[in-house]
Amino acid sequence: MSKDSSRAPGRPRRLRAALALTAAGLMAAAGAVVLPGNASAAETTLGAAAAQSGRYFGTAVAVNRLNDSAYTNILNREFNQVTAENEMKIDALQPQQGQFNWGNGDRLVQHARSRNMQVRGHTLAWHSQQPDWMRNMSGQQLRNAMLNHVTQVATHYRGQIAWWDVVNEAFEDGGSGARRNSNLERTGSDWIEAAFRAARTADPNAQLCYNDYNIDNWNDAKTQAVYRMVQDFKQRGVPIDCVGLQSHFTGGSNYPSNYRTTLSSFAALGVDVHITELDIRNAPSDAYRNTVNDCLAVPRCKGITVWGIRDSDSWRSNESPLLFDGGGNKKAAYNAVLNALNSAAPGGGDPTTPPPGTTPPPGTTPPPTNPGGCTATISPGQVWGDRYNTSVNVSGANTWSVVVNITPPQRISATWSGNPTWDGSGNVMTMRSNGSGNTFGFTTMMNGNSGARPQIVSCTAG
Ligand code: XIL
Repeated sequence: MSKDSSRAPGRPRRLRAALALTAAGLMAAAGAVVLPGNASAAETTLGAAAAQSGRYFGTAVAVNRLNDSAYTNILNREFNQVTAENEMKIDALQPQQGQFNWGNGDRLVQHARSRNMQVRGHTLAWHSQQPDWMRNMSGQQLRNAMLNHVTQVATHYRGQIAWWDVVNEAFEDGGSGARRNSNLERTGSDWIEAAFRAARTADPNAQLCYNDYNIDNWNDAKTQAVYRMVQDFKQRGVPIDCVGLQSHFTGGSNYPSNYRTTLSSFAALGVDVHITELDIRNAPSDAYRNTVNDCLAVPRCKGITVWGIRDSDSWRSNESPLLFDGGGNKKAAYNAVLNALNSAAPGGGDPTTPPPGTTPPPGTTPPPTNPGGCTATISPGQVWGDRYNTSVNVSGANTWSVVVNITPPQRISATWSGNPTWDGSGNVMTMRSNGSGNTFGFTTMMNGNSGARPQIVSCTAG
């Protein structure tokens, strides 16, 4: 089922480097001054820059704006992926029951495909932007209507949509981790998997995503709840290929320092991750740069879609959250994003040193092996507002010592099933087996840093 998202344009990096070297040689021979560093030409558009690592860079499109040439020029120049901002929602596609209105959706698909842009379908099943006839339905009648909508729409667009947001925003905000109460939820809690199955049958080649907002912070109950649903779907064979993080950040502070942990944790479940509706209040360059670098650091993060082109196009236009101003000029955040994309290693490796607090989540990195002959593997445990549990399993030896690093100001407050000792800083714990088995555990107080997670330094047998 894996799809090649590297079809987008952009000269291979090796070729560009060779061309740049040749040019540099010619300039040197002609006595020109060759500036050190940065010899290879950087890509000059977002889409081409993202394509260097096999990713896309896209935008939400309002189809009626395609008549605005300033808008369309930026769209065609910069982006290689599009999502319909409203035109493929349920109320737009099926305004009356059984009457489908494909005009605007088709127009966008046609615009995109004739320019080699990939299309994200948004969205098949959602509590919001339902037509009146659907909002007034309930029970089995609603469930059938929803499944019919999924089938009709995915069939109409079969073969033309790279990814479908099959279900959008099905979880509650806040600390409950519950499903959102909606007319769809009341049709039976298996409505989500039923929608995914119907979508797979209708368009077997589309990648099927679950999409939501406020699932960016790894410690949030909503993030954990969506994570558990995806884990459950993968275990039971419900067809799901990807998770979309909308990432509507309300400000620099709302970009969570553990965003990379969230992306890599979902990816470790065996799904791709997409940043699907990015916008950030006042468009701070740092938050945009961090977001891009976090995606680039996670091989299964396939691309980024911003939720509109110019600030004046944004659903949050009073917050100026996008990469172009109302006049279509590039903002500082644009340059931050472009530069970050240009510094990505080909193939999607991590181009940066992770900032503090963004260590990969427990259990998602290959456990370190070492000559001492044992291997220690971290599993994440329960998370509370101020602390979290971790357990570590040791294989390969029955007596062992495992060294664990903690990022201050975090602090281990309790341990079990081992004998701990500490270095002078209190940040390095050596846990020795005490005869109670090969799994030990500990509680870490966050002390204001909710993002960092412990790291195994070594495992030594004996
Ligand atoms: C928004 C559109 O941008 C607005 O034009 C519309 O009035 C409401 O919906 N989450 C989603 C998107 O999944 O579909 C929403 O788009 C923004 C929040």
